[in-house]
Order: sequence, then structure tokens, then C-alpha cells
Amino acid sequence: MRIVVAGATGTVGRHVVEAATRHGHDVVPLSRATGQNVVTGRGLDHALRGADAVVDVTSIQTTSAARSRAFFAAGTSALLAAEERCGVRHHIALSIVGVDALPLSYYAGKVQQERLVEAADVPHSILRATQFHEFADQILARGAVGPLALVPTGLLRPVAALDVAEALVAIAEAPAPASGRHPDLRGPQDETLLAMVRAVAERRGSRRRVVGVSLPGAYWRGMRSGLLRGDGAATEGRVTFAEWLAAQGPGGGSV
Ligand SMILES: NC(=O)c1ccc[n+]([C@@H]2O[C@H](COP(=O)([O-])OP(=O)(O)OC[C@H]3O[C@@H](n4cnc5c(N)ncnc54)[C@H](OP(=O)(O)O)[C@@H]3O)[C@@H](O)[C@H]2O)c1
Repeated sequence: MRIVVAGATGTVGRHVVEAATRHGHDVVPLSRATGQNVVTGRGLDHALRGADAVVDVTSIQTTSAARSRAFFAAGTSALLAAEERCGVRHHIALSIVGVDALPLSYYAGKVQQERLVEAADVPHSILRATQFHEFADQILARGAVGPLALVPTGLLRPVAALDVAEALVAIAEAPAPASGRHPDLRGPQDETLLAMVRAVAERRGSRRRVVGVSLPGAYWRGMRSGLLRGDGAATEGRVTFAEWLAAQGPGGGSV
């Protein structure tokens, strides 16, 4: 199959490219680094020509609901329009477990993305996953304040980006995709964000003292309540956070 990976250079996109290539597919990476832009539409028709499926794992780093909505509305619409022009018959979007329960901040854009995908004429699949193990590195970097790393308290069920990528490729390989949501994908164990970030900081050799903070607002209350962990109906990934971390080099990346 020819599979376009939009967001090919990202945390999960790199794994999607690697998994799809390993499965013997003709993989077309798509991102600004490879000359395309889903927001402006640049290079999309050329990249999508002859494709059987598009896996959309693009993202923007923002906590602004308005910026998130603007990115996902523009990017999703441009991708879907290019798929229609190019005759692509399967759009696969990666979303997040619990987005509709907390349609705030970054998640506001993800809700909008899901709605656009569901309303489109192109057959679609939506997979919602929990936070990646790699989320701990992002939180460590974002929370740096002098000698401290401030970490919001939260209860998660993190999943390996590698497991998410395998699930996305399996969805792309389905012979006759029927539009709709797939069972949620979550990790094998509950973890607290604080313990995850402390473990990552130690593995990376960070000298920062990791301090938990209880952030106000509905989004963080929801994360503390464990709302984003999914439920027993979810499919579970294989790799635990501890296994993922043990396989990481001190600077990140697999050893
Ligand atoms: N991170 C998590 O814990 C998590 C959990 C569940 C679901 N998800 C979902 O998974 C998806 C991927 O997340 P991620 O953390 O892997 O993202 P990421 O690491 O931030 O990667 C984002 C990707 O999007 C590309 N991109 C950004 N703007 C673009 C544009 N205008 N045109 C084309 N490509 C663009 C980036 O490449 P360039 O910079 O080269 O353009 C990069 O390849 C997101 O939809 C996210 O909501 C994430």
C-alpha cells in the first residue's frame, strides 16, 4: 500500500513511518521538514497522488484553544480536500482519549478535528490514544524554572508511541475500511505524571528538583481525576512506562 504519514517527523509520526516501512508499505513522509504544509496546503496534492491511506499525526504545541482549533481546522480541511481531489479512500486520524469530556485548551482543536473528519466524504478511522510515555519528557522540559521542574499532578495511563504507531498501521491495512471510531488505545498500567517525570529526569541526568504542583482549572482537575485514562473497553499497548524508559538512552531515543 502507499501510505502518507502527515506529521512524519513527530513523536509518533517517526514510529508510524518506521512501522509502515517494516510492514513493506510504500511510505510517503509529509511535514514542513519535507516541504509540505497542511495549514497552507503546500505540496499536498503532489504527496497524496496514488496514496491508499493518509495517517494524520500532525500537531501544534499550544495550550490556546483558539490556536489549536485554527491549526486542526485548517490542517484537517486541507488534507481532506486534497484526499478528495486525489481519490484517497482512507483518512486515519489520531486523537486523544477523553477529549470530548474536556474540550479545553489543546483538546478544543482535537474535538474540532474529529468533527471535520466525521463529516467528510472520505472514509475515515479515528483512533483515540492516551498520553504517550514521551509526554513525561515534554512536561520535564516545559516545567523548567531555574533549578526546579514544576510538574502538574495527574493520573494517567500512558502508552508507548511505538504501540500507537503499530495500531495506526494495522488500521491502514484493513481491507475495506468502514468509517468510525476504533476502540480506544491505552497503556498497560496507571502512572502518576509526577512519578513519570521524576523517573525521566533521573534517566536523563537532570539536576532539576522535580516538584509536583496542583494546577487550577477544569483541564487539570480532569487529569488529576484519572478521566483521561480510558476504561476497560480500551485496547492495551504492550510496553510499560518502565520498559520504555529502560530502553532509552540518557539523551532520549532507544538504546
Ligand atoms: N503526545 C501525546 O501524548 C499524544 C497522545 C495521544 C494522541 N496524540 C496525538 O498524536 C498526534 C501527534 O502528536 P505528537 O506528539 O507526535 O506530535 P509532535 O511530536 O508535535 O509532531 C507534530 C508533527 O506535525 C508536523 N507538523 C506541524 N505543523 C505542520 C504543518 N503545518 N504542516 C505539516 N506538518 C506539520 C511536525 O513536523 P514539522 O515541524 O516538520 O512540520 C511533526 O512531524 C497529535 O494529533 C496528537 O493530538 C498525542
